[in-house]
Amino acid sequence: MKKFSIVIAGGGSTFTPGIVMMMLDNIDRFPIRKLKLYDNDGDRQAILGGALEILLKEQAPDIEFSYTTDPETAFTDVDFCMAHIRVGKYAMREQDEKIPLNYGVVGQETCGPGGIAYGMRSIGGMMEIIDHMEKYSPKCWMLNYSNPASIVAEACRVMRPKAKVLNICDMPVGTLRRMSQIINKNPGDLEVRYFGLNHFGWWTSVKDKEGHEYLPEIREYVAENGYLTKVEVDTQHMDQSWQETHKKAKDLIAVNPRYLPNTYLKYYLFPDYEVKHSNCTYSRANEVMDGREKTVFTAAKKIVEKGTAENSGFTIDSHASFIVDLARAIAFNTHERMLMIVENNGAIANFDDDAMVEVPCIVGSDGPEPLAQGKIPAFEKALMHQQVTVEKLVVEAYITGSYQTLWQALTLSKTIPSAEVAKNILDELILANKGFWPELS
Ligand code: NAD
Ligand code: LMR
Repeated sequence: MKKFSIVIAGGGSTFTPGIVMMMLDNIDRFPIRKLKLYDNDGDRQAILGGALEILLKEQAPDIEFSYTTDPETAFTDVDFCMAHIRVGKYAMREQDEKIPLNYGVVGQETCGPGGIAYGMRSIGGMMEIIDHMEKYSPKCWMLNYSNPASIVAEACRVMRPKAKVLNICDMPVGTLRRMSQIINKNPGDLEVRYFGLNHFGWWTSVKDKEGHEYLPEIREYVAENGYLTKVEVDTQHMDQSWQETHKKAKDLIAVNPRYLPNTYLKYYLFPDYEVKHSNCTYSRANEVMDGREKTVFTAAKKIVEKGTAENSGFTIDSHASFIVDLARAIAFNTHERMLMIVENNGAIANFDDDAMVEVPCIVGSDGPEPLAQGKIPAFEKALMHQQVTVEKLVVEAYITGSYQTLWQALTLSKTIPSAEVAKNILDELILANKGFWPELS
């Protein structure tokens, strides 16, 4: 079988060790000859790079491993770029969450003003790595799961329409694992229909390969328990705040029992509840810094200290194996059915052609081919139209440098009560994001 060369952009990410170990776990399905880490923060990346160097020497000595901050070294001779960058890192995520919360507005990584702020930072970083990829390895595909995925995907559509970038999100994968637990099945045995935007959508069908429809059964369970399961199924979304999120799906179902909701819809349908249950001095960013970030970096330092990765504390991010499924789909033309973020072009019959939507696609070596999801009802369509317009305005504001356009984007967000609150939040976000956003006028 062909062996592949991979670069991980955002090599210093908290997800890097888990994803590298997941790839080792899948090496028979997806052989690797070369693995590089690339990050623009050399010191952060070196901690993980040093530890992974030891781990790979022990567990996969045939793989040529290196880490670098030099784009040419990183992006030359690569087949796939796995991108998980966080422009501004956790220090800026904390601002994204706390600034809106201080105005009584949802403070969240990808939804509402926090997502808009993060989007304005991510666009530049993403375009930079796409350009490196296209310059040094024009045949390379980027598998992007950097957030906020919806704004990043819209920016790719407008600013790099020909780039070989595949935008995908892990949240539907994690929720499907929960659904499969609820009905006592394997996620791999289930096929779904789904429509929406990223972090903003609904499952309309969950069937097994024989065609049995499980949606009514899952709905009944979720109406009582949300997506909380009896056995813990997801290694990623397990912290206390995530348990609250899985539980809240119960209230989402009450509003709209027709379909099974993506959990992120809670920020749009219950923003007042979310604010009331948030702590503006200790947000999700603090939870991750004190949790995942500390655990991963402490484990890495221990590996380097001991000179061995045996019993290291790095764990396989098995839920991320969808990334290998996607790479295999491109590399081996497997026609894998996956939820992807793609330009609508009729997949949702009564929605804008140029909207970046999340729908099931068949993925082969030419990329994703969206599956038609038919017409969607008025309630979901109106919510989606409002949100997709916010996302489009953010990208327009980034390109034109227009303060007015970004103010409109915030004003339109369902999470913000008035243009005045939008302006106050925007003005604080501009100060906090100096050097990360383009100058607005
Ligand atoms: P992190 O801050 O730990 O890591 C991000 C890394 O990106 C940092 O080391 C940073 O220096 C680097 N970076 C920032 N800008 C860059 C640039 N322009 N070029 C190169 N490197 C750059 O963040 P994290 O929590 O590990 O998340 C990483 C990303 O993955 C985020 O966008 C997050 O939303 C997304 N994400 C991925 C998954 C998944 O399934 N793997 C799940 C959830 C979120
Ligand atoms: C979070 O946990 O809050 C996000 O960074 C998303 C994730 O899955 O880690």
